[in-house]
Amino acid sequence: AQTPADTLYRPSMHFTPTIGFMNDPNGLVFDGSQYHLYYQYDPFAPYAGRVHWGHATSTDLLHWQDQPIAIPETKDGEAFTGCAVMDIKNSTGLFAADETGMVALYTRASPTKQSQYLATSKDRGQTFTEYEHNPVLDIGSNSFRDPQILFHKPTSQWVMVVAKSRLHQIAFYASIDLIHWVHLSDFGPSGLFGADYECPNLIEIPVEGGGTRWVLFVSVNPGAPTGGSITQYFIGEFDGSRFIPDDTVIGLTDFAKDAYALQVYSNMPNNEAVSIAWLGNWQYCQELPTQTWRGSMTVPRTMMLRRDFAGWLRLAQQPRGVETLRGSAIPFAPRRLEAGTSVTTPLPSGSALDLTFSATVDERHASLPPGDKGRTGRFVITFGNEQGETLTIGFDAFSGQLWLDRSNLRGFSQPFFTGEFSTVLNPDDRHFSVRIILDASTLEIFANGGLSVGTALIFPSAPLSFLRLETSGAGATIESVSLYPLHKTMNR
Ligand code: FRU
Repeated sequence: AQTPADTLYRPSMHFTPTIGFMNDPNGLVFDGSQYHLYYQYDPFAPYAGRVHWGHATSTDLLHWQDQPIAIPETKDGEAFTGCAVMDIKNSTGLFAADETGMVALYTRASPTKQSQYLATSKDRGQTFTEYEHNPVLDIGSNSFRDPQILFHKPTSQWVMVVAKSRLHQIAFYASIDLIHWVHLSDFGPSGLFGADYECPNLIEIPVEGGGTRWVLFVSVNPGAPTGGSITQYFIGEFDGSRFIPDDTVIGLTDFAKDAYALQVYSNMPNNEAVSIAWLGNWQYCQELPTQTWRGSMTVPRTMMLRRDFAGWLRLAQQPRGVETLRGSAIPFAPRRLEAGTSVTTPLPSGSALDLTFSATVDERHASLPPGDKGRTGRFVITFGNEQGETLTIGFDAFSGQLWLDRSNLRGFSQPFFTGEFSTVLNPDDRHFSVRIILDASTLEIFANGGLSVGTALIFPSAPLSFLRLETSGAGATIESVSLYPLHKTMNR
């Protein structure tokens, strides 16, 4: 039976499993009419254990329809993370001329071995048949997992990106038929070291203003600067056999700690770059306060590369299509907030919220002594409840930094469930903009056009029932603000 926490913390527009434990998104593919979301799933318990591929389908990446388990655990092992592609030209030779073939490639994991398995689907991803000569790639390792494949047009071959996890390397392989694979190169160790490299993903992403660059995502666990699980990325060139990073810079997809195992959609119309990540962290995901279900996915995110304040190319992520779920706007907020003032509005209960906001904090004279409120002002967005709990997102105009503080919520505590995170937006700018999606136990912050993204699990002991905007140290001009409830997409 569902506990009160199971209901209270259940998001209404983020994908969650009805029961059981969910982690990584898998097999993200558009089949020509539907989007598929497969996922790491233990249907038997709210813990990671006997991993199957769960499955859901959607026509808009927001409303999901549950489907039967697609790939079960077998005597060969659990069905770990992997990908799915449309085999439109029948590269495998495993489909008939009139069939729309889908191929899944994933890791079978036993305590002693991790190797790559292939399965085919002739009914658009509903059911899969394992290839009879599996594994298709086995290097005799127990730390070799999470294949992603893409078709590389310039060299007319399929490329597999897969983690040699403990070696902290990403291996590249090539194939003509998705069955026989030839080793091309290894990348790394690079960037964060941590314990294991996991879930590599390679994609060519549009650059704002024209052109494209390749981005290699590598999930690392544990070992994040914020603790536990994190997805790092490298921007560079992929020439069909090697990934050559442009520089030695490491990008992190998130400034908080609950977005992991990011995976990109395959076969997207117009090569749109869209990702979904698991909204969780291995440090505490098996101890969350829910009992019958655990695990959420992020909202789908559109990705592009943009230049930051210093001219560097960085990943920018934006929620995709969430506007379509908006109900009627909640009128709110004045144009000006003088120093030390605030404005509060009640929040509708039971629905997710979409807040977009931008403001410029007033300039103050540098000669003013730096007091305890800072040299210039701070702007604080607070979600709170009658129980005195608060979730704050604040902007410090002096340093151009944004913080997120979930530590004053009392529904969950665990040593690794740390409360405070921050990111720099632009060190020289008193202006900031954020889009915040708040949905039960999930918070996603997209700041300054998606260049800084913070994803966090949040556990208030009662629903957050008001929103307060507040200034300290200096006044602020609010350029724009909009607040919407979001329609439910999940029937749970
Ligand atoms: C990442 C990961 C993968 C593995 C899967 C197991 O979160 O550890 O490396 O395939 O989860 O569920």
